[in-house]
Amino acid sequence: MYRIIATWKFALSAVTMGAKVLSSGGRALDAAEAGIRLTESDPDIDCVGLGGFLNRDGELELDAAVMDGDTLKTGAVIGIKNYEHPITVARAVMEKTMHNILVGRGAESFAREIGIESRPMLDMITPGARKLWEEKRAEKAAASGHDTIGFLALDSHGSIVSATSTSGMGMKLPGRSGDSPIIGSGFYAESGVGAASATGWGEDIMRTCMSFRMTEMIRAGADPQKAADTAVITACETMIRHGTKPREMAVICLDADGRIGAACNHKGFAYVTACEGGEPTTVDVEPIIDKDTL
Ligand code: GLY
Repeated sequence: MYRIIATWKFALSAVTMGAKVLSSGGRALDAAEAGIRLTESDPDIDCVGLGGFLNRDGELELDAAVMDGDTLKTGAVIGIKNYEHPITVARAVMEKTMHNILVGRGAESFAREIGIESRPMLDMITPGARKLWEEKRAEKAAASGHDTIGFLALDSHGSIVSATSTSGMGMKLPGRSGDSPIIGSGFYAESGVGAASATGWGEDIMRTCMSFRMTEMIRAGADPQKAADTAVITACETMIRHGTKPREMAVICLDADGRIGAACNHKGFAYVTACEGGEPTTVDVEPIIDKDTL
């Protein structure tokens, strides 16, 4: 038995690839990496990898992470440039170093040292991404746009993995990290328990540790849908109680039995899921709470 759930409609090709790996008995880690690499290479996906949002200075700085629920090992890269596949670098951080996170030039040197193929950043900036950046710069627009592929996989061996990849927010300050490469915020996994991931305003997701929150609820016996709903409602209510208006947050989670959950505080969120014997399916998610009416 296997199960995959991933954030946003654009994850369809990633989930289809992941399902191919898992249906032939492959490992969750390989499914997550192979799937996310497709998303990273798709120039039409404007928030992940090639063609992603540019930072304030017009540069493409990418974040990615992976957590192996069998060992609790994690690997992440933050603000990496000149690499088309930050997920592959993140996996190498997890598997080949004693560290959890490498940042910027350190991540790039490490990737170079172990022979991961680089690609000039300028080659990965699409005309659309450059145009959007020029418009936002002319308008002096604030940072915005922030989606992530979050990919959760349970394989037939019982291993669970959570992985993410994103360009982060458009017009972000150079060096800014969102939630996606931060353990417990953008991703978490523990085999035998479950896994979770988040997408949306990284600053809010980090403040509320969404992914660890959901995994702990599953450990305590919650159904994944209940864990997802409760995480979003509690995070929004907690922020309001402390005088901070929540912005967009959406979450997915998965338990060790392959049950899934998803929730959001805004319209437009969807996920893609696949399991044994079925085609990958896209599901629209109705907000469990509306951030605009809080
Ligand atoms: N959720 C992605 C980011 O804020 O960078």
